[in-house]
Amino acid sequence: MKEEAGVAFQAQVQVFQAWPNDLLICTFPKLGTTWLSEIVDMIYHDGNVEKCKWNAVFNQVPFLEMNDPNMPNGGSHVILLAKTPSLHLVKTHLPVQLLPVSFWDQDCKVIYVARNPKDVATSSSYFYQMAKMHPDPSTMEEFLQNSTAGKVAYRSWYAHVKDCWEKRQEKRLLYLFYEDMKHVRKIAQFLGKEVAEGMAAKIVHHTSFQEMRKNPADNYKTLPSWMMDHSLLPFLRKGIAGDWKKHFMVTQNKRFNKHYEEQVEGSDLCFHMEI
Ligand code: A3P
Repeated sequence: MKEEAGVAFQAQVQVFQAWPNDLLICTFPKLGTTWLSEIVDMIYHDGNVEKCKWNAVFNQVPFLEMNDPNMPNGGSHVILLAKTPSLHLVKTHLPVQLLPVSFWDQDCKVIYVARNPKDVATSSSYFYQMAKMHPDPSTMEEFLQNSTAGKVAYRSWYAHVKDCWEKRQEKRLLYLFYEDMKHVRKIAQFLGKEVAEGMAAKIVHHTSFQEMRKNPADNYKTLPSWMMDHSLLPFLRKGIAGDWKKHFMVTQNKRFNKHYEEQVEGSDLCFHMEI
């Protein structure tokens, strides 16, 4: 019964009807989705901090494939979006091949964020501890094995980042890296919005790790603790590139590098493992 409901919901996602000026934020989990969502929301609100604080970022930018009746906004975000006949800012973790076709048919703009896989694995293993919808990540060793084998939510990081990289030439798609997220004017330009230098600086400040961490609209602390247990770890945990170095053992790093080389072979997609 639960499985049938899941299949029906997936079908509902697939027939989602996008509008031509909708914006889709597409990422693999833990690549900086919330950060980008807040930046985009700020750009669309012309840098008005109060308007952005008015509602949680996960309401401002609904999660396409979210269907949890326990969520504060009551379950299916597809239904929520369909009821909002205006510009949609939408977030998804679906791989590019599984996006509802209407996003492509309507020629919607898409922003993709990528982040190096070592930081993604580190961030995910900590997130799996505090976000109770995920299984216990066990040890870092076990989590790394599962993550390189694609046995995590949304499966393979490699396929996700590479497939979208290939699409960037033929679609209205901005491919960003976590390290470049402070380039607010580049993002605004892609969205067709004029952002003066002063405004860009204001947005960078408001969306900095420190500011977002204390902002209840961004830090997910409004969710009940049985969903995200902030007494274990905060959602905005470290917010840097290269944190993996504190968590990978030498042997794990060697094994990860080997797997990484095999997976990205032949692709011109290149990641910085640290700044
Ligand atoms: P860490 O766990 O490495 O700290 P997502 O929103 O896709 O789930 O990604 C969460 C990751 O993005 C977390 O990484 C989080 O701290 C980081 N993040 C969120 N907002 C950020 C910001 N303003 N600056 C830098 N990193 C940020």
